[in-house]
Amino acid sequence: MSVAADSIHLDAVTKSFGDTPVIDAITATLGGGEFTVILGPSGCGKSTLLNLIAGLEGLSDGRIRIGTREVQDLPPKDRGCAMVFQNYALYPHMTVADNIGYALKVAGVAKLERARRVAEAARVVELEGLLDRRPSELSGGQRQRVAIARAIVREPRVLLFDEPLSNLDAKLRHGMRMELSQLHRTIGATTVFVTHDQVEAMTLADKVLILNKGRIEQFDTPDAIYHRPATTFVAGFIGAPPMNLLAVTGRGGKLRLDDGTEMALHPHDGPALLGIRPEKITIGGEGFAAQVVYREDLGSHTAIVARLPGGQEVQVATPIGMHLAPADTITLDLPQDHLHLFDPATGLRLETP
Ligand SMILES: Nc1ncnc2c1ncn2[C@@H]1O[C@H](COP(=O)(O)OP(=O)(O)O)[C@@H](O)[C@H]1O
Ligand SMILES: [Mg+2]
Repeated sequence: MSVAADSIHLDAVTKSFGDTPVIDAITATLGGGEFTVILGPSGCGKSTLLNLIAGLEGLSDGRIRIGTREVQDLPPKDRGCAMVFQNYALYPHMTVADNIGYALKVAGVAKLERARRVAEAARVVELEGLLDRRPSELSGGQRQRVAIARAIVREPRVLLFDEPLSNLDAKLRHGMRMELSQLHRTIGATTVFVTHDQVEAMTLADKVLILNKGRIEQFDTPDAIYHRPATTFVAGFIGAPPMNLLAVTGRGGKLRLDDGTEMALHPHDGPALLGIRPEKITIGGEGFAAQVVYREDLGSHTAIVARLPGGQEVQVATPIGMHLAPADTITLDLPQDHLHLFDPATGLRLETP
């Protein structure tokens, strides 16, 4: 199966329900042949944005181009998109083969050609042996594969996924992530995948578009999203547990906590939020005193919460075997090259110290 890889150009794409903009003038290019993940909390507009691309919702304003074609006025069937949903809703009375081939039948594709394409799609998602079964005779993962086969059998230019793995258990989700990644490499279609799960986003994406209240917080590679979050929202959304954000004040080349404890050298003047990931904080070196208030053993590491001078708390991921208990006093150090600085008024990233 080979597919032309069209880019998707969103130009000031806006959607309001009533007076409230749900998608607020989004401009972005989703790369041809790339795997783009739209990530954000529930209700931020992910499904709406996907539905606008597919044509299941109409735009309030703006334009969408797929390849060189403006599509915002085209009906869904003329956009070259195929969609896979969380609730895959297969026809229960039809076999797997008939479910996969149904759209081709409706489109009037001849029987032989239909059988060839169904067999090819089934091969790609590894359902060959199951074509005569009915959906009730399949596992959850197999049903999801039928839903994916039903989408790719149409040889779409663009594959759209709306939280397709959310109904599966954790182990199956991991397996399906690997399969989707391989599928993408096999068919090469431009893919847009909506999820609220940061692990899915970070593992599957060429680029992640982080959406918050209908606006783009950051649109970048997983690596950049993790290592250079553009906003406090991204910093607090990515990572488990997420980045610590400490209120500090810059004066005389130094960033200090409220009580005057020095955190870092930096020319910033005035209030700021200092970001540091739990796994980057080191224990036991030079640095400043903190008090353990809570600990959790997580097998691979120990998570602690520590109270800093002045009362703010940080999460720290420590190696196993460090026997810390509540009320212990420890020394923490924030390595200079792992610090992030944000403007507390706008939430935007400032230059890294
Ligand atoms: N058809 C609709 N009518 C009115 N409001 C809607 C409609 N569809 C979605 N919304 C609202 O738009 C916002 C975004 O919804 P949605 O795109 O489904 O978010 P997500 O997929 O990120 O969870 C939500 O506040 C939701 O209630
Ligand atoms: Mg949704």
